[in-house]
Amino acid sequence: MGALLKLTVLGVLLGFGVLLGFLVERTVRFLRRSGFYKEVEPVHLPNCQLIKGMEYGSEDIHLLPSGLAFASTGIKMPPMKSFAPDRPAEILLIDLNEETIHPISLPISGGFDVSSLNPHGLSAYTDEKDGTVYLFVVNHPPPLYKTDIEIFRFDAENKVLVHWKRITHPSLQSVNDVVAVGPESFYATNDFYFEKMIMRFLEMFFGCTWTNVVYYSPGDVREVASGFHNANGIAMSHDRKFIYVADLTAHTINVFQKHANWSLSYVKAVDLDTLVDNLFVDPETGDVWTGAQPNLYKMFNYKEEDPPGSEVIRVQNMHSERPIVTRVYVDDGSVIQGSSVAVLYRKKLLIGTVFHRALYCRLE
Ligand SMILES: *[C@@H]1O[C@H](CO)[C@@H](O)[C@H](O)[C@H]1NC(C)=O
Repeated sequence: MGALLKLTVLGVLLGFGVLLGFLVERTVRFLRRSGFYKEVEPVHLPNCQLIKGMEYGSEDIHLLPSGLAFASTGIKMPPMKSFAPDRPAEILLIDLNEETIHPISLPISGGFDVSSLNPHGLSAYTDEKDGTVYLFVVNHPPPLYKTDIEIFRFDAENKVLVHWKRITHPSLQSVNDVVAVGPESFYATNDFYFEKMIMRFLEMFFGCTWTNVVYYSPGDVREVASGFHNANGIAMSHDRKFIYVADLTAHTINVFQKHANWSLSYVKAVDLDTLVDNLFVDPETGDVWTGAQPNLYKMFNYKEEDPPGSEVIRVQNMHSERPIVTRVYVDDGSVIQGSSVAVLYRKKLLIGTVFHRALYCRLE
């Protein structure tokens, strides 16, 4: 009996030790992945200014070839910080051809309930035949923060968004970003189990790879890529042959070849050593830009005296053996906190953040 008891105690202790070891390993990995240990070395640019009227986040920005850009502003994702929790969210229109930037809030018509707007990723599709611009907005209406993909037609003359379609689908459970490939079809980065923040957190903590890329068109919805830790920004190469997927907590941009049947095949991953958010492809050079968060941990555990930083990264020659990764702008959070996107138009760089200010820099 005594021997059996000893063995049982030993077994329990051993099990406990293994569990503890596992939790320690996951904690260390989670902290590394979320940028807990990361300190940034600022890289500032000479000709930058903060944009008036973009103080409460511009999580995603989509640039049209004309220099007009849409920005999703005012996202609320508790427990993520918001400086204006009661301020309604908006879609802003920005004209990057102007000397001084004056964002305007786009009115929304077509029966859309603006109080349900909580916009996340954006993408636009331009119909080559008639020039109609379709703006896709990933929306998480409070209080449940589930996902609807809202499609608006942009009335450029009157500067109005006209609601056209709402897409919901069981395969689009918790979408982060989309890239539009037709008036009603898109690729989306998605978490296929959870939309609740606490569950997303646990998923991240345990290092699960339960996020995927879904292709959606009215007659065809399917998973086209999977196994990401946290599939986030998504964009298409200018020649439309490749899809780029940011994996936030794996710190990578993943390159996929796109087939005529919309399937994707994995090509490679480029490590950026930071938490990669939205992606922008420069139509002139094919360079891929991202606004990244060096320390995601500080985004959720916000402290004014130790704010999250920002990192704007450019990847040149993405398809070569050795892509060139450049940190174009880095800030410790004293200027802009938690960058999430960067777009470039005629040497003018516009940097958006999740919940903080936006910065505009001239690169010469
Ligand atoms: C799509 O096309 C690719 C390349 O031609 C092929 O390998 C793949 O099996 C196709 N997938 C489907 C679902 O038809």
